[in-house]
Amino acid sequence: MQFMDLRSDTVTLPTPAMREAIANAELGDDVYGEDPTINRLEAMAAERVGKESALFVASGTMGNLVSVLTHCGRGEEIIVGGHAHIFLYEAGSVSAVGGIHSRQVPNQPDATLDLAQIEAAIRPENDHFPRTKLICLENTHNRCGGACLTLDYVRQVRALADKYNLKIHLDGARVFNAAVALGVDVRQLTHDVDSLSFCLSKGLSAPVGSLVCGPADFIREARRARKLLGGGMREGGVIAAAGVVALEHMVDRLAEDHVNARRLAEGLADTPGITLDPSQVQTNIVYFDLEDGAPDAAEFCGRIDERGVKMGPTGTHRIRAVTHYGIEADHIEQALAVVAQVMV
Ligand SMILES: Cc1ncc(COP(=O)(O)O)c(C=O)c1O
Repeated sequence: MQFMDLRSDTVTLPTPAMREAIANAELGDDVYGEDPTINRLEAMAAERVGKESALFVASGTMGNLVSVLTHCGRGEEIIVGGHAHIFLYEAGSVSAVGGIHSRQVPNQPDATLDLAQIEAAIRPENDHFPRTKLICLENTHNRCGGACLTLDYVRQVRALADKYNLKIHLDGARVFNAAVALGVDVRQLTHDVDSLSFCLSKGLSAPVGSLVCGPADFIREARRARKLLGGGMREGGVIAAAGVVALEHMVDRLAEDHVNARRLAEGLADTPGITLDPSQVQTNIVYFDLEDGAPDAAEFCGRIDERGVKMGPTGTHRIRAVTHYGIEADHIEQALAVVAQVMV
């Protein structure tokens, strides 16, 4: 039995090719724009997602904050899903750092925001109100079980944004998972948003880093916001080198994580005491609920941990498991055997 950590895809370790690239990376001072490896990564990222320019940042959280700070000023407002990472898990940074107000619209189970509810949340011009500037989407959607927003949906949000002269930012921490799951070029998913951030350090397995991507003038301003947050990168090519390998070699294999997640979901759904609909699992994230009479989430996670399997409690009776590089099909069968043992 091998130890396995299914708490998140952020636990992935760099591949041997990444470690080699890190050791051999050409370096310079990125605050002077002189780190050749970061410059290469930024050019690759922009090309890959079909935007003019890109900026390397420390994390997905920094990528989202830099983007929102670049789109909005103090006292302005973003429209964001009630289950969005930006709203729930980023320490309230858009308000704490940027003085930017956030207006939540409920996420539907498929991760969309209802278009009529977005429209109703857009503020009319009036001295009493903050000015709506930005709509934030998330694809795939973490709290909505890794659900993918479709091209058609994003296009509809674009039409609404254009009607009110608003911008769209995509938290695309796992946008490559969405592209692989939907079988589309990632550019199709990013075409209709003004800016996006995506993470190298999740399913793509790089140790650190995210990219903010958008028009050249937007990225010039975003560099300033990154500096304000203390995110100037200096010889950050040591970590960007792993990001280059991630973009070159780690995108297509995300399909394996999706197959493993689906198998995990099917096995869990067959386990007495667990509620889960495997047909809802589209990518690498599996949420499930422990029924009355079963151990609660903390106890369940403690019991499987003692047997070498980690999953994350996300509520009193709710658990999240995430598949990623390093987790193979036979690990999933072993994890299911452990779950069966602790549920008796
Ligand atoms: C959807 C989403 N956005 C943003 C982030 C933030 O990324 P980081 O942990 O690199 O700050 C995460 C992290 O899990 C995420 O799931």
